[in-house]
Amino acid sequence: MYQQKTSHRSIRQSLTALLYALCLLVIIIPTIDASEDAAPKYSYDDWELPEDCGSCHNYIYSQWRQSMMSQSYTHHWDEIEYFKLALPHAEKDEVVAEVKAGCNGCHSPMAFLTGDIPPAPVAENTRANDGVHCDFCHTITGHTGDIPFNFNYTIEPGETKQGIRQLTDEAPHQSVKTKFLGSAEFCGICHNEKDPYGVWVKSTHLEWKESPYAEQGVVCQDCHMTKAKSEIVDGGTVYDDARQHLFHGAHDRSKVRGTVELRIYPDKTEVKKGETVKFTVALFNQKAGHKFPTGSVEDRILWLHVEAKDASGNSYHLPVDKKGFDGEEYTIGADVLAYTDMAIPLDDPDFKGVQRDGIPIGDRIFRMAYFDPNGVMTIQQWNTKSLGVDYRIGPKETKLETFTFTVPEDAEAGELNITADLNYQLLVKPVAEFLGVPAEEADVIEVNNQSVSINVM
Ligand code: HEC
Ligand code: HEC
Ligand code: HEC
Ligand code: HEC
Ligand code: HEC
Repeated sequence: MYQQKTSHRSIRQSLTALLYALCLLVIIIPTIDASEDAAPKYSYDDWELPEDCGSCHNYIYSQWRQSMMSQSYTHHWDEIEYFKLALPHAEKDEVVAEVKAGCNGCHSPMAFLTGDIPPAPVAENTRANDGVHCDFCHTITGHTGDIPFNFNYTIEPGETKQGIRQLTDEAPHQSVKTKFLGSAEFCGICHNEKDPYGVWVKSTHLEWKESPYAEQGVVCQDCHMTKAKSEIVDGGTVYDDARQHLFHGAHDRSKVRGTVELRIYPDKTEVKKGETVKFTVALFNQKAGHKFPTGSVEDRILWLHVEAKDASGNSYHLPVDKKGFDGEEYTIGADVLAYTDMAIPLDDPDFKGVQRDGIPIGDRIFRMAYFDPNGVMTIQQWNTKSLGVDYRIGPKETKLETFTFTVPEDAEAGELNITADLNYQLLVKPVAEFLGVPAEEADVIEVNNQSVSINVM
C-alpha cells in the first residue's frame, strides 16, 4: 500500500513541476502581479526579542524561561518528533503534507508566519528557537472563526502590546487593555488541535469548556498564571493581583503530584487463606480544569498499580477487574506491539512496532487511544484517523476500579497491606527508548498513593 503511494507520488511530482513552470510564466508577465500574495507578510524583526522584554520585566522573563512555552521549539522531544517523524512523513504522504508548516503554527509561530519552513535545526540558534514568546502572545488580538484551534490567531505586531491594565503615560511602550488575553479562548488557539483527518487530537480548551470550572468562570490563567502580590516590572508598582507567568503543566512534578486523590477500601477486614476479598480504589480528579491526561494524550500514560504484601514481605500484583466496555483492552497494560506507522517516516517497511505500554500487565490505564488509518495505535497525532474509548479522568470526576484478590494458601497470616499507586509518564517508555528521547521524558512520576491493611487468619 505504502509502495503504491510512492509511485502515485512520482506522477504527482511531475504534474506539480509542470504547474510550477506555468505559475512562473504567469508571474513574469509584468501586468499580472501574483507575487504579493505569495510573499510572507511578516519578518522575524516584526517581533522584539524576549531578552529585550526581560531587561525590564526580569522576573516574568525568568518564569517564562523555566516553562515549556520558551522551549516549544527547542525541547529535545519536540525536535525529534518534528525532524525525525513529522517532517519526513509530511514529505512522503500527501494527506499529512500540511503539517510540515502546521506544526510550527503553534511551536514556532514566528517561523510559521514568516514562511521560514522548515525552520533551521535548534543548533543553528535562529529566532525560530524563541518559541511561544513575550512579544508573540502580547500582539495576539483574537482568533478567526467560532472556535479557537489550529493557530487561528489574528495578530498585530508593533509598539502597542496587548495588556490587561491601563498604563500610565510614563510606561516606555503603549498597551491596550483587552479582555481576550484573560480568556480561555486565547489559550485554546494553540491548545485545541484538529489533525489533517479532521480528528480533534488536542482539546484541552474544549474539555475545559464542558467542565464545572467554565461554569464557575475559572479560566486557564487562574491555575497556570496564578495571581500574586508583586510588581510587573522590576522596582515598579506592586499590584495585589499580578499575573505570574508560570505555565506549569505536565513537565512540572509539583503540578502533576496530587492531581488525583486516591482512597482504597476492602469489602471485608478479615479473610482466611484461599478466600476472596475485593478492594475498590476511588480516584478523584481534584486539581485539573480539564481531563487528566490532556493535551498530548497520544504520548502520555497514567496507570494504577495495586500490590498486596503479607506479614513476611511476600508481594502479590493485583490485576484490575475488567468492566467489559468497548475498547477496554486499550485501558489495561498488555504485552503487545503498536506504533507501526512510524515505519513511514523512518523508511523501514519491515518495522514491527514497539511495546504498546511498557508498564505491568493487568494495570488499569487512564487514556484515550489514537488510531492510525490502519487502526493501529499511534503516537503520531497528525496521522490519527480515529479515537478509541475516552477513559481519562474528567475534571472533578471520580472513577472506581475494583481488584478481586484470592489470598494464596502460602501467604503469611497476620497483616496484609495493600497499596495503590497512581503513576504517570510523559511519554510511553518503549517509544522514548526506541526514538532516543532523553530518559527524563519517561521517568515514572508518582501522582499519588494510598494503602489499607486487612487481617489474614
Ligand atoms: C524599558 C522597559 C520596558 C521594556 C523593554 C518592556 N516593557 Fe513592558 N512595561 C514596562 C513598564 C514600566 C510597564 C508598566 C508597569 C506598571 O504598570 O507597573 C510595562 C507594562 C507591560 C505590560 C502590561 C500592560 C497592561 O496593559 O497590562 C505588558 C503586557 C508588557 N509590558 C509587555 C512587554 C513586552 C511583551 C515587552 C517586550 C516586547 C516589554 N513589555 C518590554 C517597561 C518595559
Ligand atoms: C501561540 C500558541 C500558544 C498559546 C497562545 C498558548 N500556548 Fe501553551 N503551549 C504552547 C505550546 C506549543 C506548548 C508546548 C511546549 C512543548 O512542550 O513543546 C505549550 C505548553 C503549555 C504548558 C506546559 C505543558 C507541559 O507539558 O508542561 C502549559 C501549562 C500551557 N501551555 C498553558 C497555556 C495557557 C494557560 C495559555 C493561555 C494563557 C497558553 N498556554 C497559550 C502553545 C501556546
Ligand atoms: C502564552 C502567552 C504569553 C507569553 C509567552 C507571555 N505572556 Fe505575558 N501575559 C499573558 C496573559 C494571558 C496575560 C494576562 C492574564 C490575564 O489577563 O489574566 C499576561 C500578562 C502580562 C503582563 C501584565 C501582568 C499584570 O498582572 O499586570 C505583563 C507585564 C506581561 N504579561 C509580560 C510578559 C513578558 C515580559 C513575557 C516574556 C518574558 C510574557 N509576558 C510572556 C500571556 C503571555
Ligand atoms: C482548576 C485548575 C486548572 C484549570 C482551570 C486548567 N488547568 Fe491545565 N492543568 C491543571 C493541572 C493540575 C495540571 C496537571 C495535571 C495534568 O497534566 O492534567 C494541568 C495540566 C495542563 C497541561 C499539561 C498537559 C500535558 O499533558 O502536557 C496543559 C497544556 C494545560 N493544563 C493547559 C490548560 C489550558 C489551556 C486550560 C484552559 C483551557 C487549563 N489548562 C485549565 C489545572 C488546571
Ligand atoms: C494547534 C497547535 C499545535 C499544533 C498544530 C501542533 N502542536 Fe505540538 N503541542 C501543542 C501544545 C499546546 C502542546 C502541549 C500540550 C501538552 O502539554 O499537553 C504540544 C505538545 C507537543 C509535543 C510534546 C511535548 C512534550 O515534551 O511532551 C510534541 C513532541 C509536539 N507537540 C510536536 C508536534 C508536532 C511534530 C506537530 C506537527 C505534526 C505539532 N506538535 C503540532 C500545540 C500544537
